[in-house]
Amino acid sequence: MIDYGRICLEEVKNPERFDGNTDFVKDAVDYAVKKVWDVMGDFVHYHPSPSSTDLMYKQLLNTPEMLGGDWVGGFWTGMLWLSYELTGNEVYRAVAEAQLEDYKKCVETPEAVWHHDIGFLYIPSSVAQYKLTGSQRAKKVSLKAAKLLAKRFCRNAGIIQVRNRNAQGDFIIDCCMNVPLLFWASTMTQDREYNYKAYSHLAQAIRCMVRDDASTYQCYQVDELTGEPVRGWQGQGYDDDSCWARGQVWIMYGLAIGYRYTQEKALLEVAKRVSNYFLNRLPSDLICDWDLMFTEDDVQRDTSSAPVAACALLELEKYLDADDPLREVYHNAAVSIMRNLAEHYTTKGVESNGLLQHGVYCKDKGDGGLGDDECCIWGDYFYMEGLTRLAKDWKMYW
Ligand code: GLY
Repeated sequence: MIDYGRICLEEVKNPERFDGNTDFVKDAVDYAVKKVWDVMGDFVHYHPSPSSTDLMYKQLLNTPEMLGGDWVGGFWTGMLWLSYELTGNEVYRAVAEAQLEDYKKCVETPEAVWHHDIGFLYIPSSVAQYKLTGSQRAKKVSLKAAKLLAKRFCRNAGIIQVRNRNAQGDFIIDCCMNVPLLFWASTMTQDREYNYKAYSHLAQAIRCMVRDDASTYQCYQVDELTGEPVRGWQGQGYDDDSCWARGQVWIMYGLAIGYRYTQEKALLEVAKRVSNYFLNRLPSDLICDWDLMFTEDDVQRDTSSAPVAACALLELEKYLDADDPLREVYHNAAVSIMRNLAEHYTTKGVESNGLLQHGVYCKDKGDGGLGDDECCIWGDYFYMEGLTRLAKDWKMYW
């Protein structure tokens, strides 16, 4: 049983900040699909680096080691699938399909995939291909990937462990977005073990990482033999008491998707609580600062978290009762976030092979950081996913 009663459900402050006018969507979609078209030739069997340098992504070859050794390759393939959906242009589809072989080789080299980010890699790529085209080959690759992810489950601890070595009992909030691959595999195979592992991981994330005020830790260690909480820390966030913006949006979206698959009320209730916490800590243009302990306008934004939040809110909205006032609040908040990204944060007018400026991969905390105030490829993907959600009746890849 998930105890969500201890977690505060804040009332969303000043909902009049948000408005649901979507007249920006067409222009924003045109800019995004044109950018994907313009850079596509550089990324056929390459994927963009996680973040840009001076707003330019580097080309990384789709070898099992490069694709499987990091977490981001799937986002570019996902952008190709979204571009195909938005335009009907078969060229986007052909490039995305050409990459399936790269993902196949990668999952057949399991030692190259030594971490938990298998959902991020395979959902927007091979699962998307299966859902859009019915490709049995893509389904097979995706189910192999799910099997690999399921192997990382530590039964006593009830979690998907983050890495292979020196990490017994460690899990991170980002993985709430990997477990949808297990939920999906369960629906494909009727094997309830996948479902159990995904649900158990989310339940442990809620128990350990979501604080009573609905803020979150990024990283947590549980006792590997009993699953009992040991300690939380912040990883990519400001400090151990703060709330890393991207961690908060990963769990917002992960719980919304978890609810879709399980219909488990606790997941929806906690999704609302972490979402309201997020919405109450936005600066004036609604684009979150990189850590939610900051709410001021003169702090570094993280445009790679903002569209994840918008997608989460658009998903959550679907599961609220027709007369629940939060429905309109979530919808309008998501639209307003997307509008402000489209109008103030794209790469329009600057030299770049990315879509959104002012993202943060790892904030410079005196160690130089990484991709601090740059384009981030997952931000670009979720920005396009948010636009697609607003442009059409979109069937989820997750
Ligand atoms: N590790 C995933 C992220 O940076 O959000």
